[in-house]
Amino acid sequence: MTTPAVVRAEDAEGVCEQAAQEFLRLAEESVAARGRFAVALSGGSTPRALYQLLSGQPNRGRVDWSSVEFFWGDERSVPPDDEASNFRMVREAMLQTLAVSEAQIHRMEAEREDFDAAAREYQETIARVLQVSATGPPPPLDLVLLGIGPDGHTASLFPQTKALDETTRWVVPNEVPQLNTRRMTLTVPMINAARSVIFLVAGEKKASLLAEVLYGPSQPDQLPSQLVAPVSGRLTWLVDEAASRKLPASISKLPASISK
Ligand code: 6PG
Repeated sequence: MTTPAVVRAEDAEGVCEQAAQEFLRLAEESVAARGRFAVALSGGSTPRALYQLLSGQPNRGRVDWSSVEFFWGDERSVPPDDEASNFRMVREAMLQTLAVSEAQIHRMEAEREDFDAAAREYQETIARVLQVSATGPPPPLDLVLLGIGPDGHTASLFPQTKALDETTRWVVPNEVPQLNTRRMTLTVPMINAARSVIFLVAGEKKASLLAEVLYGPSQPDQLPSQLVAPVSGRLTWLVDEAASRKLPASISKLPASISK
């Protein structure tokens, strides 16, 4: 893995602006190189503003949306119209404005009774879209967007859950006893195969956690976000001032721009 870049913006809005610029750059690069841009979107509250920025002008006109394949990093076990659905959040914040073809939108069907079959079929969908074998190693998505939860989880890789140990599958169901629920999630190998992974982290509530994840001792079972280390891709942490307050001064004083 290349050294992760930690890039600071003033506030959550700035984090989303930086992320939007990086999204535009990667989309252009990926479409030019491979004819498509395959992205896994994250849920949570922070990225909503990013999706709104992307679907608003001028950004909307800067992406060849017909070449974008939309995947999700994780999903809650609810129907797609439920308020807690990550799919619904992205649809409302971005997809309904863009009016992209349904064939480009690959939501995780986490409302299904047979969760394991749904996860296996999602792996097959990724394989079909990226034109690789569904039984081989995880293929590289062009971009995986992630956040960190207050307990150190990312995607739906929660502390001390079974999905953390997955070494082969790309997508798995994950029982999350601490939330008394189950989720569907991309696995660590799938995330780490990506060409680019970007974490969006904002707010002072994340400050101690962010310092722990980035500079604390390695304890991935407790802090699953520490497992994110793209094999040959690029890892970028986009953080705001409040979230970066407990980082070493050299990092928290970095200028607000993405190093190329
Ligand atoms: C979800 C997520 C999750 C999220 C983090 C951060 O479905 O909840 O995908 O992993 O990214 O919990 O969420 P915030 O941006 O709301 O802090």
